[in-house]
Amino acid sequence: MNYSQRLNKVIPGGAHTYSRGDDQYPSNAPQIFKNSKGVYAYTPEKNKFLDYGMGLRAVTIGYANKKINNAAIKQIKNGNTQTRPSLVELEAAELLVDLIPSAEMVKFSKNGSTVTSAAVKIARAYTGKKYIIRCLDHPFFSYDDWFIGDTDIKRGIPEEYAKLTLNFPFNDSVALEKLFDKYHNQIAGVILEPSTMGHPKEGFLEAVKKICHKNNALFILDEMITGFRWHLQGAQTLYNIEPDLSTFGKGMANGFSVSALTGKREFMEIGGIKKLGSERVFLTSSTHGAEMSSLGAFIATIDFYKKKNVIKHIWDFGTKLITQSNQIADNLGISEYFSLSGVPCSPVFTTRDSNKKISLPFRTLFLQEMIKNKVLMPCIALAYEHKDREMKFTLNAIEKSLLVYKKALEDGYQKYLVGEVIKPVFRKYN
Ligand SMILES: Cc1ncc(COP(=O)(O)O)c(C=O)c1O
Repeated sequence: MNYSQRLNKVIPGGAHTYSRGDDQYPSNAPQIFKNSKGVYAYTPEKNKFLDYGMGLRAVTIGYANKKINNAAIKQIKNGNTQTRPSLVELEAAELLVDLIPSAEMVKFSKNGSTVTSAAVKIARAYTGKKYIIRCLDHPFFSYDDWFIGDTDIKRGIPEEYAKLTLNFPFNDSVALEKLFDKYHNQIAGVILEPSTMGHPKEGFLEAVKKICHKNNALFILDEMITGFRWHLQGAQTLYNIEPDLSTFGKGMANGFSVSALTGKREFMEIGGIKKLGSERVFLTSSTHGAEMSSLGAFIATIDFYKKKNVIKHIWDFGTKLITQSNQIADNLGISEYFSLSGVPCSPVFTTRDSNKKISLPFRTLFLQEMIKNKVLMPCIALAYEHKDREMKFTLNAIEKSLLVYKKALEDGYQKYLVGEVIKPVFRKYN
């Protein structure tokens, strides 16, 4: 049995994240990694790949960074967990509250899903209302039922519960207002990412906040991807918008497992125990929620960001990558079929077929060719250790891959693609 067969025999989906599964990669993709260092990932057979997935965007400096690992190891030596709160738990909470302007209190956890669900719970508990609105164009907020029930994969989720989540398109505050009218006085909160493929339209985030507050609903920003990439103090700082609650995760601790729900004291405190007589809300509460090694890594990560200006590096690298990749596509005469765009700190590539329609087969072909050239690019998650050498290597791989892409536009992708086409994660059937 190969690794894929062994993985799928013992793990449903073959991995603990659907986006790591076989159906997300071309057939020549490495099936498993043993270790990573900097921005390179290694298979057990020691095949080396330049990585742009960066642990599903969690690694923003580089894998196995010595300073950050040492900070985690120091906390492991301190016991890694305690029977009462740990000193590092307090220090990490104070650091985050000092860092993010809208954060007056914080609850740490291990996964993003846990804290977005906790934000939804606060919104419902605080307002006493039951509907939640999420942004339709944002691919993922949580594996919990409140979100998955509003996707195509509804199996296992009671219809009554799924119906409590509504959605609206990004940059469309008029659609949002209509939902608030339709479900008058029943909406607890709105959750969205501040930005994904591009900056928000001017005034959009402000409009969402205004509509929420006019209707006594909470305005929640999910900064799982934008946090620690768009700006050290969150995209909320870049866009000068203060949410009631916000959530962070990926990027907080260079790949160590930490997530955070933060926000105004007024809302966060309903999960507290000090206001005598107020009805309690059971917010997140878990054995490993404040694991010391991860919080030690978080503190060291912030220190590294401040000393090395990681954010500026990521923006500069992304700007150059977008310009130079597009130049390559332009030189080959295929810029209408392949392009890089997006917010420079988080570029996105778009693959189109010969009819200029967005194409998964062409996306699969591009990934396949990049892998042949030793670059793994399921998305473009940039890190501090993506440097000039990696830029050169990447641009060379893009050029070689686009030469094949160009031929496939003329002859059909079938002639060049080996194996299955990538499938969307959110599909009803396998
Ligand atoms: C915007 C957003 N929110 C929430 C999550 C969930 O985070 P996690 O996978 O850590 O549970 C993700 C993960 O991809 C995400 O991209």
